Amino acid sequence: MQFQLMSEALLPAVMDIEERAYPWPWTLGMFRDSLNSGYLCHVLADAGQLLGYTVIYVAVDECHILNICVEPEKHGKGLGRLLLRHALECAIDHGAEQTFLEVRPSNTAAIRLYESMGFVQVGLRKDYYPAGDLREDALVYQLDLGGLARSK
Ligand SMILES: CC(C)(COP(=O)(O)OP(=O)(O)OC[C@H]1O[C@@H](n2cnc3c(N)ncnc32)[C@H](O)[C@@H]1OP(=O)(O)O)[C@@H](O)C(=O)NCCC(=O)NCCS
Repeated sequence: MQFQLMSEALLPAVMDIEERAYPWPWTLGMFRDSLNSGYLCHVLADAGQLLGYTVIYVAVDECHILNICVEPEKHGKGLGRLLLRHALECAIDHGAEQTFLEVRPSNTAAIRLYESMGFVQVGLRKDYYPAGDLREDALVYQLDLGGLARSK
């Protein structure tokens, strides 16, 4: 398994995972905008098969995790944790001292992953996500990267 930078050529494979993994997936345009904006976009692949990806951006000392996703057939094998750790290390290398993310309250698997990595909930954005005819709140999580940076 290896990490590599996401590129335009990988976007069809990324979209294939994205559309199966999320009820409300990102569009191709959102991935293109992320690449064009210089966000840090990585994929994890094994023998040419895409296993997952992350999209983050770092502004001064703050990182925002915008997308972390694992191929649905490979859930529960430690890949999400591997992707998250890699993204956080990448953020530290780019000068981040803390990181934030948003997650749906219904996304138990992601919340457990984040909390097991030391993230704490610091806020709530009302009606942040689309959810059919309704909206779903977002929980805002934060992690101080100091401890992770020292253990690198
Ligand atoms: C969230 C996601 C990235 C986790 O990836 P994964 O590879 O399945 O997770 P891992 O195998 O690395 O598990 C890491 C931890 O997450 C938690 N977890 C993972 N799947 C879980 C599940 N189905 N139920 C509860 N907790 C779960 C556990 O705490 C687990 O640690 P443990 O194995 O030591 O108990 C994956 O479910 C995914 O891609 N979901 C769709 C996209 C998404 O929702 N992304 C997050 C947006 S905020």
